[in-house]
Amino acid sequence: MKVAINGFGTIGKRVADAISKQPDMEVIGVSKTRPNYEALIAIKKKYKLYVPRDKIRAFEDHGIEVSGAIEELISRADIVIDATPAGVGARNKDLYIKLGKPAIFQGGERSEVADISFNAMSNYEKALGKRYVRVVSCNTTGLLRIISVLEETFGVRSVFATIIRRGADPKEIKKGPINAITLDPPHIPSHHAIDVQRVLPHIPILTVALAVPTTLMHVHVVRIELSKEATVKDIIEVIEKAPRILLIEAEKHSIKSTAELIEWARDLGRSRYDIPELVIWRDTISITNGRKLTLVQGIHQESIVIPENVDAIRAILKIVTKARDSMRITDENLGLKRWW
Ligand SMILES: NC(=O)c1ccc[n+]([C@@H]2O[C@H](COP(=O)([O-])OP(=O)(O)OC[C@H]3O[C@@H](n4cnc5c(N)ncnc54)[C@H](OP(=O)(O)O)[C@@H]3O)[C@@H](O)[C@H]2O)c1
Repeated sequence: MKVAINGFGTIGKRVADAISKQPDMEVIGVSKTRPNYEALIAIKKKYKLYVPRDKIRAFEDHGIEVSGAIEELISRADIVIDATPAGVGARNKDLYIKLGKPAIFQGGERSEVADISFNAMSNYEKALGKRYVRVVSCNTTGLLRIISVLEETFGVRSVFATIIRRGADPKEIKKGPINAITLDPPHIPSHHAIDVQRVLPHIPILTVALAVPTTLMHVHVVRIELSKEATVKDIIEVIEKAPRILLIEAEKHSIKSTAELIEWARDLGRSRYDIPELVIWRDTISITNGRKLTLVQGIHQESIVIPENVDAIRAILKIVTKARDSMRITDENLGLKRWW
């Protein structure tokens, strides 16, 4: 299947690399609007670069080879991944409709942009054959993974999560805070709870979010009330078997922070130190009153949604009809859960 990546930034460049590793899809081109270092990287990685028609000359003046206008890229594709900045995707939708192309949008877009908000573990089958799918944000993806896995075995009665958000991505120089803990947003629930319910409407959930001066990862403190009683051992057994969730031992491995986690990924030689898995600190898993589970989890915001974008392609185009099958292909080819 021919995939166009519209927007080659933090998410778009990772999705492009992930698709290039899959056996059943190929990247036919990527787009940029500014002739900066990311455009040079696209060329170096042998992606065909497409830009707005009125900017072709500017790119060529910078010595950057352009394969054509963005409309030409979209018209050649079977499907589009829109990874442009929040709000731009919705404006691009008219073009996708005009050229008759299905598209995948990102979590920064309003949910109305798509027919369905998507997480592979939670509602893959509901996205089969849909025209427009929105992969939910990084934080929502992390919450949905743990909720879906626990729901299958124990049932989930309610969820409360405190989300400690990174202030900016590593490349962002104009975002913050740089010396504050900010209510982000300054109300409860934060949009994450609403977004979880767009995918799993029956889950009662409340979230509160704070932003802190770090770029590496988000951290969540999650409290889940289960429908059935469970022990810590039961929870660990289920999480160990689940795809896309890693259990990390804070004490034993001395990984008690996002900094050490990222260093681990760097030492392992993971591309861009990405951690597309949800990370749960095993030591934090605790049960009170038989049903109240508490745990702490880490989200690598730049990469956690990448496998979901790959699965969304298979769901829309009905290449694979079962979530587990698509996730297995994606994860094997990305080398997920291979840490030792
Ligand atoms: N970053 C994260 O942690 C994260 C996590 C999950 C979801 N998301 C969501 O993913 C989406 C993309 O975010 P991002 O962080 O990847 O943004 P980003 O790093 O700013 O990348 C956006 C890309 O889109 C390009 N672009 C801008 N306007 C365009 C247009 N009109 N047509 C084609 N390309 C255009 C930009 O290129 P130029 O620079 O050349 O304009 C850039 O390559 C957002 O909805 C965001 O909320 C982000």
